[in-house]
Amino acid sequence: MYQEILNEIFKEVGQSNCRGKQADYIPELAKVPPDKFAIYLTTLDGKSCGVGDLNDKLSLQSIAKVFGFTLAYKLKGNAVFQHVGVEPSGDPFNSLIQLEQEHGMPRNPLINAGAIAICDILIDKLSNPEQDLLDFIRKIAHNDTITYNPKVYQSEKATGHRNRALIHLMKSFGRINNDTETVLDLYFKLCSVEMTAPELSKTFLVYANHGKIPETQEQILTSSQTKRLNAIMQTCGFYDEAGEFTFRVGLPGKSGVGGGIAAIHPGKYAVAVWSPLLNSKGNSVKGMKALELLTTKLGWSIF
Ligand code: DON
Repeated sequence: MYQEILNEIFKEVGQSNCRGKQADYIPELAKVPPDKFAIYLTTLDGKSCGVGDLNDKLSLQSIAKVFGFTLAYKLKGNAVFQHVGVEPSGDPFNSLIQLEQEHGMPRNPLINAGAIAICDILIDKLSNPEQDLLDFIRKIAHNDTITYNPKVYQSEKATGHRNRALIHLMKSFGRINNDTETVLDLYFKLCSVEMTAPELSKTFLVYANHGKIPETQEQILTSSQTKRLNAIMQTCGFYDEAGEFTFRVGLPGKSGVGGGIAAIHPGKYAVAVWSPLLNSKGNSVKGMKALELLTTKLGWSIF
């Protein structure tokens, strides 16, 4: 059933006249062929299927913020919310205005400022942050080959002026403990993690499985923490388009400017979709369309 639905979506999205623009503020991302498309779904009862460019790695970008936050939440518990809030920003992902008005406290862990504050925590807590964070992602992915992409990392490091502005603003309010370039380095590395759509869908299954890695049964977050993280994805995962995504798709999820979106239906499945052309809010045009079609055709969402 799932495969037939995904095939229909592939056809319908392929025929639709969706317009969008690739992220080019990170030059390496602009090199990805714009017509790439993949969708892959993995269920908790062991089924998986997909269609499209399933062997290509996509740059996770902001999707990886979910993994950074998962590790910080695991390590610090509720104290993590002394560093980031849980309110949707209603603003672009890299906006400075709200951060200034709110004295350097990021609205949530999924906007850039929030994810940077989370990287600052990880540097405080981990003995070898870059390797430990990668090992953690590999653990939830159940895949030791997952890695950072050095070209994407370098490309963002060379052009990340807005993220530098965000961290310096936070530092001016006394909210960053570590050296700003050290923190940004970890943030840029996290954003550069790449996976195929099947790998991404399998990695997100932990959030559909109440915080337990399906293959090993290891509990990464408690069921209550996982509920809270999924709530943050639902309300904050698409920045100033979180309402639109909730309205059209009805699942918790997270987008990235590489054109990926990962979403979950708690207790049922995780899905990853990829198409590099973005709308003006930085979310994949075809990715959102594909997920809207998925929940419509399945007749299930969380609402
Ligand atoms: O910091 C940045 O601008 C990127 N590494 C991540 C932004 C992103 O993916 C926003 N998502 N839609």
